[in-house]
Amino acid sequence: MSAQALLKHVSTDAAEIEAGQLITSRGPVPRHYDEFWTAKQRQMHSLHYANSYRASFKPELPDFFISRYTKPGDTVGDPFGGRGTTILQSAILNRRGLSNDVNPLSERLAYPKINPVTIEAISEKLDKIDLSRPVDLTLEEDMSMFYHPDTYKELINLRNYLRENRDDVDRFIEMTALSRLHGHSNGFFSAYSFPQISIPKANQAKINQTRCAEPDYREVKSRILKKARTTLKSGGISDLRRNSRHHKLTTGDSRDLKDWPTESVHLVVTSPPFLNQVDYIQDTWIETWFCDIPRDQVEGRIVQTPDLTKWAEFISATMSELHRVMVPGGLVAMEVGEVRYQGNLLNLDEILVSLTCSKAYNMHQFKVKEIYVQSQQFTKLANCFRVENNKLGTNTNRIVLMEKI
Ligand SMILES: C[S@@+](CC[C@H](N)C(=O)[O-])C[C@H]1O[C@@H](n2cnc3c(N)ncnc32)[C@H](O)[C@@H]1O
Repeated sequence: MSAQALLKHVSTDAAEIEAGQLITSRGPVPRHYDEFWTAKQRQMHSLHYANSYRASFKPELPDFFISRYTKPGDTVGDPFGGRGTTILQSAILNRRGLSNDVNPLSERLAYPKINPVTIEAISEKLDKIDLSRPVDLTLEEDMSMFYHPDTYKELINLRNYLRENRDDVDRFIEMTALSRLHGHSNGFFSAYSFPQISIPKANQAKINQTRCAEPDYREVKSRILKKARTTLKSGGISDLRRNSRHHKLTTGDSRDLKDWPTESVHLVVTSPPFLNQVDYIQDTWIETWFCDIPRDQVEGRIVQTPDLTKWAEFISATMSELHRVMVPGGLVAMEVGEVRYQGNLLNLDEILVSLTCSKAYNMHQFKVKEIYVQSQQFTKLANCFRVENNKLGTNTNRIVLMEKI
């Protein structure tokens, strides 16, 4: 099916956009353009910045929707949980959180954020872990392009320790170690690399060659402690721990949220993969290696497809499952972006709207209330400029707010 066929329920010409409406076969949908949350970095709770994650949204996004559309005690869910931004913000705002992701790495990153521990406990635990045991590196994965042999020995010892020891302090240490595996400063364990993406070994070897540098020794424990201190600096640990029993993390496909109770969720704040814009498998390979997550647990399970029809069917099936788990009148705030598709720029919000207008998809399950376009640098400018901006496709946060029918 072509993009045009999928979009048959939506028409967007400049006049409609200018009027701030999207015209659909079900009627007009308000499309708001504004700076709904700050463009400034790192303004929210420090736990949000514990790890980089591909295509994660800013914590301000779930904060905006949770604060606006729910009250304390309500349940907020995210079927594509990633690093756990939605569940952490739900916990901070005293909501009950449900977070799911098909990649088991998500649970490793999200659990410690909603079950944080004190820096004293981390320091004490690190003192006790022996990272100096002899390791036969010839039996291990070759990571010599990333790590100095002595750093690597410490990492293998830490990984072996974490295989056996899983209390909340261990898990916080694991999450923090995951954030230090590769990056560009001395705070990371690796040679100069990319912090957001696990790059292939050959690319890392090339970087080392270009920089005429081999990995130098990076002591592991002190870097974990330093990063943990930054992660915990906003405090509130005991409040988060007290409420952690109200939250649930699940690992599975968004189309079958079997451990999410029926009619239990008041609001979903989520962001699915945008076609195949991000390679979640390749880009996290060092993290999945460190966590001992077998490749076959992610390969073939993560949906990252270049095919628009397959993507639309995947999203539609996820929405059907969300319809099951949501309370009557519950809301879904789904963030999507713009993608290049067959040479054109495609706004995926329009595809979502189309799904909710089509009998073959989700027409009887959801109706779109409004669309928010977080447009930072153009906020204060005239409508005509926003049309221009829309055509150029420089807006990236488009949140479609849908109501369960
Ligand atoms: C855009 S990211 C979400 C990032 C998240 N909002 C955050 O702030 O960290 C999309 C997520 O969808 C997950 N995913 C891909 N296919 C999935 C599927 N079939 N079921 C559930 N999750 C899936 C990926 O593993 C990835 O973590």
